[in-house]
Amino acid sequence: MTRLDEIRAAESRLLLQTYERNPILFVRGEGVHVIDEDGVKYLDLLSGIGVNALGYGHPAVEKAIAEQSRALIHTSNLFYHEGQAGLALRLTERTGMDRVFFSNTGTEAWEGALKLARAHAGLLRSEGRNVGTKFLALEQSFHGRTFGSMSTTYKAKYREPFAPGVPGVEFVRFNDVADLRAKFSEEVCAILVESIQGEGGIRPLTQEFFAEARALASSTGALLIVDEIQSGMGRTGKWCAYQHYGIQPDITTLAKPLAGGVPIGAVLCTEEVARAIHAGMHGTTFGGGPLACAVAIAVIDTIERDGLLAHATEVGEYLLTQLRSLAARHEAIVDVRGKGLMVAAELDSADLAKLTVAEMLKKNILINCTSDTVLRFLPPYILERAHVDTAIEALDEIFTQHANLAAAQTAGGNNRV
Ligand SMILES: Cc1ncc(COP(=O)(O)O)c(C=O)c1O
Repeated sequence: MTRLDEIRAAESRLLLQTYERNPILFVRGEGVHVIDEDGVKYLDLLSGIGVNALGYGHPAVEKAIAEQSRALIHTSNLFYHEGQAGLALRLTERTGMDRVFFSNTGTEAWEGALKLARAHAGLLRSEGRNVGTKFLALEQSFHGRTFGSMSTTYKAKYREPFAPGVPGVEFVRFNDVADLRAKFSEEVCAILVESIQGEGGIRPLTQEFFAEARALASSTGALLIVDEIQSGMGRTGKWCAYQHYGIQPDITTLAKPLAGGVPIGAVLCTEEVARAIHAGMHGTTFGGGPLACAVAIAVIDTIERDGLLAHATEVGEYLLTQLRSLAARHEAIVDVRGKGLMVAAELDSADLAKLTVAEMLKKNILINCTSDTVLRFLPPYILERAHVDTAIEALDEIFTQHANLAAAQTAGGNNRV
């Protein structure tokens, strides 16, 4: 029995069976590679679902963890420590927001955003304004697994087993301005969007839809809340993907890559929204702890020092170009889209998408499939063109083999006729 077999047997007995894991035991990582128990190196184009922004074993992350863990790991939010103000300053300066609350995960940041919106609407009502409690979320959205996040997430499979969810959520057709206008009213306290939907298949909002959401919210005092948990912190070549649109939200949320792999989330808001919160209304034991904050500061400073926003833009453009030329050779690729290092290639069948992910794994390259037919690329920001070439070559082989097989089957079928 291998070590992997032992772990699989133990997990199947001991863990809630929430994941269908790939049978690989990872033990360490280096740069853009993650390495299994036999020393096999995998090119990681998924970075732990958009988390390991600086890849693996980055000296800045290692140094921050080592130094901070020697100094202080946890204090609770009842006391001050060095990290929160420094991190909040960096985040507010880069996002155009005014204030921050730190959480541990993306879904917690999103819960904080929903609570802020309800509290803000309550404040406006107490001031005589007419703003309700309803949320408008988007079809194909994904905001997380806790109750509020789940209730504002579109796909029924995430919500229905746990029904009833949080009431007061209505879904708007994606990028459908007429539907948004029809469903918006004074009952709405917030419009909820991802600038580029992640789990929904790397789908960007249109400029028109985003601008209309901003205008409608502003017209009543409702809030525009933008979830940047997957698209934020430099992944698209800007700190937040909404900055590509020149649109400023009232609240935004960050998590995944914020501390390069150490759990942390953040909800950021304007001074106007912050009026609605006072001591005791919201909190967390672990959120914004010294360790996570120190690492997040190191990640931000490294992204800046090493010019990784420009690098993500440049290598992302190269990845898109190479995927487009692959699409020109392979009919199975029906669309290529994305921004920076948040990229998708949509295929013409769910079976082929699943097969492609499995075949890439056999070639020691990690990608995944979202929304059934979409191959998703969320690599570390330190990815180089040579890594893109390796991945494109592998995809080319897989699609060629698949097309040849399909042609042979058709020919075989024709012969039988
Ligand atoms: C856009 C978006 N929001 C929220 C979440 C939830 O984050 P977490 O898994 O850290 O709770 C995710 C996770 O994939 C996400 O992509």
